[in-house]
Amino acid sequence: MAIAKHTYSPIQIYKRLLSISGRYWPVFLGVAASASLFAATDAGFAYLVATLTEIVEAGSNLTERQEFIKQWLPLAVLLLFASRGVCNFLSNYGMGWLARITVKELRGRVFEHYLELPTSFFDHSSSGQLLSKLTYDVNQVAQAASNVVIVLFKDSLTILFLVLYMLYLSPALSVFVFIVAPIIALIVRFLSNVFRRHNKKIQTSVGDITRIGEEALQANKIIKVFSGQSYESSRFDAANERNRRTELRLLVTKSAGDAVTVFVTAFGVAGVIYLINKIDIDVSRVAGFITAMVMLMGPLKRLTNVNATIQSAIAAGESLFSIIDTPKEIDTGQFNPDTIKGSVNFKNIQFGYENVKEQVLTDINIHVSPGESLAIVGRSGSGKSTLVSLLPRFYDPEAGEILIDDHSTTEFSLSGLRKHISLVNQEVTLFNDTIAANIAYGSLANASEDAIRSSAEAANVTEFTKQMPDGLNTVVGDRGVLLSGGQRQRISIARALLKNSPILILDEATSALDTQSERHIQAALDKLMQNRTTFVIAHRLSTIEKVDRIIVMDAGRIIETGRHEELLAAGGAYAALYRLQFRDDNASKSA
Ligand SMILES: Nc1ncnc2c1ncn2[C@@H]1O[C@H](COP(=O)(O)OP(=O)(O)O)[C@@H](O)[C@H]1O
Ligand SMILES: [Mg+2]
Repeated sequence: MAIAKHTYSPIQIYKRLLSISGRYWPVFLGVAASASLFAATDAGFAYLVATLTEIVEAGSNLTERQEFIKQWLPLAVLLLFASRGVCNFLSNYGMGWLARITVKELRGRVFEHYLELPTSFFDHSSSGQLLSKLTYDVNQVAQAASNVVIVLFKDSLTILFLVLYMLYLSPALSVFVFIVAPIIALIVRFLSNVFRRHNKKIQTSVGDITRIGEEALQANKIIKVFSGQSYESSRFDAANERNRRTELRLLVTKSAGDAVTVFVTAFGVAGVIYLINKIDIDVSRVAGFITAMVMLMGPLKRLTNVNATIQSAIAAGESLFSIIDTPKEIDTGQFNPDTIKGSVNFKNIQFGYENVKEQVLTDINIHVSPGESLAIVGRSGSGKSTLVSLLPRFYDPEAGEILIDDHSTTEFSLSGLRKHISLVNQEVTLFNDTIAANIAYGSLANASEDAIRSSAEAANVTEFTKQMPDGLNTVVGDRGVLLSGGQRQRISIARALLKNSPILILDEATSALDTQSERHIQAALDKLMQNRTTFVIAHRLSTIEKVDRIIVMDAGRIIETGRHEELLAAGGAYAALYRLQFRDDNASKSA
């Protein structure tokens, strides 16, 4: 499953963003109030200029009103600018607060959603792209949320007040404002489409940069040994350059938009100046009018720029909501037993991966009794891992069903199913925490120290933590890089021991161990497998001689079933595999 393809209208995106921040409406109200007051101060300033001109023009024959105004004008200017400053601060702070809370909640929702998306989703998405959504996209929304509302609110109100004042001063002169305004609106509309396109490209290019960067950091040893530096550099360079170009194109569009808007506005001003000569009008009115008109430019310019921000917010919002709208893992079952006996029955299973034509599993029928251990062997790519991944429902079969204690796995709730299953994988990812916390992970977090210690001992973890000053409380490095593959596998085995669940899956659980450590751990694993339904996929056949039953898989089908001795005696695929490994083992021993 890939990211759901959705198209959202800008309105839908804003509505959804509002649904997140909407419950903080009192803050919204505060922002609206302070922004409106702020907007009024601009018209107030134009009024003061008109009044001042009137007084200067009147010279010494002032009326009583004019005398009064003249006295209080300096104080009025001070008050005007003081309240302007306060309103500006309040509206910016309030909006910033709203933006940050929206970001926090949105980011939280996306992350929560990541945790509940089906495995197939991650098969089809690059983690770099998914990570950049949590950082870059979310921030785009934040910026937009604050800038846009502030600018839209403050500036459009400022424009409204200024225009009203201009109409009051001279309807005739205002004609120009009404000619210029629609032209600006048209320019803005055209620009917003361009912005939107650029912003999508920028998002993709940031995702590419993160992805390539991430891969290079993770694979730094491979890059060194296989001299991949120039390949990585050129790949990174291409993405980096793509990002620079689109950013630059956006900048050009933004700046050109500014310039054009200013130019169009200048037309209006020129027209007004031309008209002043034709009509009969007070100087003070002209002064007020021109002041208001010049003050109009700033907000108008910002209004065209805000579009770029709106468009990036929409593009980013789209990218985030398409994650949130991607369906979660299907979890319709209700069955949640406290204990299970642990019989597992694969019935007529057919399976193929999404977007892959070939069938991966065909006609799989296996019945495993409670406590029985089953080994699955076969060439790599024969479907062993796929088969066991159906049990915890990482994927659902296309046909057939899997029964646990005679209940279909789909009857269980996902957590009700998975709490009875332990898994040790070939690839062990550790969390950046102490070794003890890595063993007592998730639902095991409440395990007692004694329990953690004894599972660590059984899995031979203590053997290497003994030498560490903090023992089990040593913090593993980022992604566990300070531990060897074998040590990480032992931690993962300790985790399974601690979980103590009735069903156990060991998928090449000891592949990173040398023969000697494997033999050490084999004892622990044998103990672990006792009285537990176990599926063990082993690369070394010597480790599965004692299991109750072995199935041999080839190209997604079960081709042989039986005990070790039976299969050897039958002289089929298993016997051939065994002879091959036996000979290799002997060869390496004598070498
Ligand atoms: N996530 C996946 N998406 C698509 N195909 C996959 C995926 N995982 C495995 N395959 C394919 O399914 C087949 C069986 O793989 P797998 O079960 O991992 O084999 P095994 O564990 O026996 O080596 C292989 O052909 C492999 O390429
Ligand atoms: Mg495998």
